[in-house]
Amino acid sequence: MKAESESHLFYQTSAPRPRLDRAEGVYLWDVNGKRYLDASSGPMVSNIGHSNPRVLAAMKRQMDKATFGYRLHFENEPAEKLAALTASLMPAGMDRIFFVSGGSEAVESCLKLARQYALTQGQSQRWKVISLFPSYHGSTLGASSVTGMKQFTQPFAPMMANMPKIPAPTCYLDQDGLSLDQRGERYAEMLRDKIIEEGPETVLAFIMEPIGGASTGALVAPDSWHHRVQQICREFGILLILDEVMTGAGRTGKFMAAEHWNYQPDIIAMAKGFAAGYAPLGAMAAQRHIVDAVMANGGFAHGYTYAGNPLACAAGLAVLQEVKDQNLVQAAETQGNKLKAGLQELMSRYEMIGDVRGKGLLLAFELVADRKTMAPLPVGLNAHVELVEEAYQRGLIIYSRRTRGGLEGDHFMVCPPLTINDAEIAEILIGLDDSLQAFTQKQGLTRRAGA
Ligand SMILES: Cc1ncc(COP(=O)(O)O)c(C=O)c1O
Repeated sequence: MKAESESHLFYQTSAPRPRLDRAEGVYLWDVNGKRYLDASSGPMVSNIGHSNPRVLAAMKRQMDKATFGYRLHFENEPAEKLAALTASLMPAGMDRIFFVSGGSEAVESCLKLARQYALTQGQSQRWKVISLFPSYHGSTLGASSVTGMKQFTQPFAPMMANMPKIPAPTCYLDQDGLSLDQRGERYAEMLRDKIIEEGPETVLAFIMEPIGGASTGALVAPDSWHHRVQQICREFGILLILDEVMTGAGRTGKFMAAEHWNYQPDIIAMAKGFAAGYAPLGAMAAQRHIVDAVMANGGFAHGYTYAGNPLACAAGLAVLQEVKDQNLVQAAETQGNKLKAGLQELMSRYEMIGDVRGKGLLLAFELVADRKTMAPLPVGLNAHVELVEEAYQRGLIIYSRRTRGGLEGDHFMVCPPLTINDAEIAEILIGLDDSLQAFTQKQGLTRRAGA
């Protein structure tokens, strides 16, 4: 007979985890009463912190009215209001909104809408979606086909379309005599080369995260890259899809990361901070002319049972109102600058921190074996797991991934809720310092920069 405490769930975890009891603000408590500072907002989700009373009240009000009404049978007020508010926060012209339950569904929807639009334009040969390597766009087969992380995609390769990839603009790794802007141009030209190699008439779209998420560790490309890729997409009539699942809803210090570079995308995917963990909710926003063309030609052949769910939309609406009323987009920038300065100070003391990067409160640091060559730590050290465990034992939650295509390199996302205050930032930095110290001692690594 199996032990009663045996779990029937199976997820990918690095170590057995305690059971969650409750959460409030930037903290979570397990059932044993231990407190954790959520310095990664879960997987960069809990933008407004946990148990926000206004959001909980809005959800309770909606629960008392109706928790479900199928979108083909009823319109619902929270969905209408959330769509209007979302549209008002999007780049110009993107006022058509389609709700989903998460990031993978949002990306999947973007790919399908782009394809149907091409069909309405008589361009049935366009189906290829170019993306970056490394990148992460979700776990469904369509989203996986544009994802550049072999450990997540390889097993399913025969089941997916083989979508073209170009290198992510990892300029910080390059050892050449070029300026940052020149490097940005060089990476952008790879998009042009790939379009020509594939045949421009077959390329449907280019999808990318405006600031890298977990696959690259908050990678910020040079301005020149952003300007050039937009031009190249326009030049070849290729749709630009921005995956703002992680970057959207204020995390980078603008409501959409697109605003940092005045992007005029065709389609945007959002999730995570959009409902900030209060309900499974994501959205696709699209240019009106794209949606009009598709709707005039038989409609969008796509949908999900829970799309526009009233309870999820009530949560999302209250979350966005909190983001607005608490000025959390501005907070992401100001608190992000303080946290980044703290991470840079740690870098000045720990030789193995090779890079600190990101914008707003989408921040990360990367560990390396050698700062000059940016050679990664030996794979066997498993730093991306070990350091996270050191922090977890100390009640500090950070989020890590392998940096270089998912197979080697170690980066750590430090992305607390946008509500984080100065004292809590100090607590994160002390926890990181202690964890780094314990990790370096255990591994016999050099601690002091230059030592
Ligand atoms: C940039 C990006 N796109 C898409 C996804 C997929 O979102 P979800 O896990 O909600 O399906 C993620 C998740 O981490 C992401 O970071």
